[in-house]
Amino acid sequence: MAVTKSIFGLFAAPPMPLEAQRWAERLGLPLLERLPQNELVFVYDQGGLGLLSTAPGAPGAVRVDFAALHYRRKGGSLRKEAAARALGLRGDRALNVVDATAGLGTDAFMLASLGASVRLIERSEAVAALLEDGLARAAQDPELAPIVERMALYCGDALAWLPRLAQMQAIDAVYLDPMYPEAGTKGQVKKEMQILRALIGHDNDPSALLAEGLKVAPRVAVKRPRKAPSLGGRPSHSLEGRSTRFDVYVSAGPDTASQA
Ligand SMILES: C[S@@+](CC[C@H](N)C(=O)[O-])C[C@H]1O[C@@H](n2cnc3c(N)ncnc32)[C@H](O)[C@@H]1O
Repeated sequence: MAVTKSIFGLFAAPPMPLEAQRWAERLGLPLLERLPQNELVFVYDQGGLGLLSTAPGAPGAVRVDFAALHYRRKGGSLRKEAAARALGLRGDRALNVVDATAGLGTDAFMLASLGASVRLIERSEAVAALLEDGLARAAQDPELAPIVERMALYCGDALAWLPRLAQMQAIDAVYLDPMYPEAGTKGQVKKEMQILRALIGHDNDPSALLAEGLKVAPRVAVKRPRKAPSLGGRPSHSLEGRSTRFDVYVSAGPDTASQA
């Protein structure tokens, strides 16, 4: 696994944990004994693997922490989540969803918490490493283990993975949440997004993903900024929130007969 050059190395405080050494080796990054200034670095500590910008004023390390999501959400109604409604999750049948822009896995974890089987595709190897570490830590927690058992991670481009995953098992719905272009974003961007943007920039092929999604599944839900144009054509319908909108595309799809 080779990571984008924009990550300077992996820092862990001495004594260097074995896990930190393993990650540095896998990611092809040098192990750092001190934090460099103004760089993007991986850090490894009791909280697992994190990605940290050491620029002045940058937020703290970003990591995939499913336990924090789970225990924060407990008690709240997940079923009200617009993403779940957009994908057609109803509770009477466990859906096979592919989250083709997995990012830090927040949406995928919510969908798996609602009973969906979720295959996550992430193109950035650095982000996929954070996800893999987060999934492994969650699997150690007896309350989270049954949820993350329904999540499987695939690292690579969704344009290539979607047809392969469809061949392995029918896909009920594809979820897309591409990075928004920076221009036009109002207010403070969450620290996760700041780091993802520093690492990835914005995604330039989301319309192609929509087209591919519609080839392999009868339903695609796309998360967009509320006022942004749709990714392609007129959606079948949309669900609007305060700042986001979910465009739902329903196609005849290859698997409609088996879904009936
Ligand atoms: C806005 S983030 C997704 C956030 C995610 N919904 C969450 O809940 O954390 C978009 C992610 O999609 C990934 N991505 C964009 N295009 C992709 C593609 N063609 N294949 C796989 N991943 C892609 C980017 O690398 C980025 O990590």
